[in-house]
Amino acid sequence: MKRTPALQDLSREHHDALKLARHGKLAALSGDAATVAAYGAHVARCFDNEMEPHFREEESELLPFLAAAGDGELVWRTLAEHAELRALAIALRQPDAAALLRFSELLTAHVRFEERELFAAAQAAGFGAADALSAAPRPPCAAARPPAAPALRR
Ligand SMILES: [Fe+2]
Ligand SMILES: [Fe+2]
Repeated sequence: MKRTPALQDLSREHHDALKLARHGKLAALSGDAATVAAYGAHVARCFDNEMEPHFREEESELLPFLAAAGDGELVWRTLAEHAELRALAIALRQPDAAALLRFSELLTAHVRFEERELFAAAQAAGFGAADALSAAPRPPCAAARPPAAPALRR
């Protein structure tokens, strides 16, 4: 599915995340402590510099839009995975092959979920369709009569 312009930057970042996860998995399974330590530290840095801002953007714009559109289950799954990835990124500040493997596998699953389900739902609900919104007829709020005030009781 062609991405709406509002999601294209996030989608591009997903490609980078998949590459990082692929390399992270290889490092985690390498059996080499120095490789695990070095790549774990690299992933933790990438998380702070790139992924955390990406998560915040999703959480501040995309998820509230989907929650309002009635896609609460997708929103909760996204938030739960963000929380686990954040916790794993903290664990990766120390050499930890199991944490690196879990982070890499979860990041891969998370990106696939977002691309296939979350972003697809957002597009279907009109996320980023600002032009369509501004072109839609506006309800005549100013012209509408206010509802009658309830009668006051003594
Ligand atoms: Fe995400
Ligand atoms: Fe994402």
